[in-house]
Amino acid sequence: MPGIYPLLFRTLISRRDPEAAHGMAVRWLSLSSHLPPALEALRRLRPRPDPRLRVNVFGLAFENPLGAAAGLDKEGQAVPALWALGFGHVEVGTVTPRAQPGNPRPRVWRLVEQRAVVNALGFPSQGAEKVAERCRGLKRRGVLGVNLGKNRDTPLERAGEDYAVLVERFAELADYLTINVSSPNTPGLRSLQLGDQLGRLLERARHQAERVAARTGSQPRPLLVKVSPDLTNAELEAVAEVARGAGAAGIVATNTTTSRAGLGAEAVALPGGLSGPPLAARATEAVRLLYRRLDGALPIVAAGGVGSAEELVRRVRAGASLVQLYTSMIYEGPGLPARLLRDLSAIADREGWTSIGELVGRDA
Ligand code: FNR
Repeated sequence: MPGIYPLLFRTLISRRDPEAAHGMAVRWLSLSSHLPPALEALRRLRPRPDPRLRVNVFGLAFENPLGAAAGLDKEGQAVPALWALGFGHVEVGTVTPRAQPGNPRPRVWRLVEQRAVVNALGFPSQGAEKVAERCRGLKRRGVLGVNLGKNRDTPLERAGEDYAVLVERFAELADYLTINVSSPNTPGLRSLQLGDQLGRLLERARHQAERVAARTGSQPRPLLVKVSPDLTNAELEAVAEVARGAGAAGIVATNTTTSRAGLGAEAVALPGGLSGPPLAARATEAVRLLYRRLDGALPIVAAGGVGSAEELVRRVRAGASLVQLYTSMIYEGPGLPARLLRDLSAIADREGWTSIGELVGRDA
């Protein structure tokens, strides 16, 4: 498959509207998710689990540090296939409480030269009920995260209610939950990262998770908060402190950026959030800053421009315990997770480490 994908990309995929192409890929993965022989075939493409790559954070056991970032499977349709491809965890969503259509199309664009993407999707979502139904039916072969967002028409001052409803809905179904206050395509959303709003939001979400846990006799689900790379360093540090104070379990760094620094007129003209390699430097800086500030107290999940094992290791050395990707899958295809895991094991052989956890924060 790795050999065929570049040809497919050049001849077929790159000529299609990016959102339509992604829809096709998700349909294919969704179909495979329902066919045990297809899942088995996908599993055969990836290497055997390497014990050196295991990660234990948030009280959860991850087979490897690699995750599918939010947005790749917004509606939770392809989780078994994504696990089968090699992802140790899949973050479904963003899910909103009620179904909503998102922004008008076109709303996803490729910057092929930079291997980047710009999206202005605005949380199209089938809504919590539908996605929860799919999560309920999942046979576990990996860690499941669900990324939560408010509906566009919910006023900002009532955002806390939306997140509480979502925590109630997903706390029993997911292994961890991510509070998304960093997508640039829902007006005002990112302001929820600032001041005491974040603290209030997180505390309310945590209380909700604790209520569900008390009712079901289980441990409260870990809550993560996903941050924007466009916060200033001081704001990022403030988020780290608030997250720690409010009992968050970790931080996902980062979401997409509205910056177009270093890019041409084509990119500047596009609205929305940029992802892929142009985001890598700032996303890595954010991980390093958060790690230093938190002194390892809260695990960090890195995202932004990761497409190789070398880049993943750099992100771990900067302070990340887990590393997610999305945009590189668009350019590299479904064989990427397997390739990356194989390369990671080769790096472990070469460098002689026995657990990837040893590397966390080494270059922070
Ligand atoms: C995203 N991302 C995203 N993040 C999120 O929290 N909720 C979402 O619904 C989405 N949707 C989404 C759609 C598309 C088309 C893209 C490209 C990205 C952001 C994603 O999870 C990740 O944080 C960034 O894309 C950076 O990682 P990559 O793509 O550079 O590996």
